[in-house]
Amino acid sequence: MEIFVNYNQKLSIFRTPQLLADNLVNQLLKLFNQRTKQKFSIALAGGNSPKVFYQKLSSPQYNSQLDWKQIQLFWGDERCVPPDNEESNFGMANQALISNINIPQQNIHRIKGENNPEQEAERYSKELKRHLKMGNNYPCLDVIFLGLGSDGHTASLFPNSNNLEKENYCSVAVHPTTGQNRITLNLPVLLNASHIFFIVTGSEKAEIIRKIILEKNISRKYLASLINENPNVKWFIDNDAAEYLF
Ligand code: 6PG
Repeated sequence: MEIFVNYNQKLSIFRTPQLLADNLVNQLLKLFNQRTKQKFSIALAGGNSPKVFYQKLSSPQYNSQLDWKQIQLFWGDERCVPPDNEESNFGMANQALISNINIPQQNIHRIKGENNPEQEAERYSKELKRHLKMGNNYPCLDVIFLGLGSDGHTASLFPNSNNLEKENYCSVAVHPTTGQNRITLNLPVLLNASHIFFIVTGSEKAEIIRKIILEKNISRKYLASLINENPNVKWFIDNDAAEYLF
C-alpha cells in the first residue's frame, strides 16, 4: 500500500501526518548516522505541525537510536513569551520531545522568549556563533525543521520581512496579525543549513503549497519560497496539504 509519493527529489507526500512523521524520523536517523563529526545540530520548528514528528522522535521505538549527548538543539524562532506559556515553541517541544529524552541540559539552546526581544536576538546570535561551525560567514546548522504559514511565512520571517538583508543572525519580528513579538533566525542562517525540512500538513496549507511548489512563486511575499531555492530543501507534506498538486 502506497504510503507516500515522492513527487520529485524535493517533495514527499504522505497519506497521514503519522506516516510523514515516521519517514521523517528515519531521514533524521540516516543523517545523524552519516554525520562526519561527533556533534550534530538541529533547529526545531515552532507551531503545531511538527508536534506529531517530535512525539514520534521521542517514542521508545526511535528515542534510543539517537545519541542525544551528541545532539545540540536550537530553535528557528520563538514567540516572546515565557517558556511555560502555551504559545511557547520551546514549551511545545519540551512537552512533545525534550521531557521524554535523555538530552543533557547544556545541549538545549532555547531562545529565551521571556527576555527583552532586542537583547535576546543579540544573545542568541552569540549563542549560535559559540556552538556552531561557521560557513559562508554564518553559523551552519546540520538540520533545520521548518513549518509553513498559510501566508507563506516560515520561522518568523513574515511577508515582506525586512530581516532578509540584515547581517546579524537573529532579529526581532512582529506577527502581522497578532502583533506578537518574535525572535527569528534570519534568512541567511536558515539557508546556510546542511539540510532543511519543511513539515506541512492540513488542507489549510494546500493553497500556499500550490503557490510555492507549482507556481514556483518566488518572492519576498512568500518567504518559504526563497528558502525553497536552496538545493538542500526537502518538503514533507501530507495528502491534505497536497490537495492542489494533482
Ligand atoms: C511559529 C512557527 C511558524 C509556524 C507556521 C506554521 O512560531 O509559529 O515558527 O513559522 O511554523 O506558522 O504553524 P502551524 O504548524 O501551527 O500551522
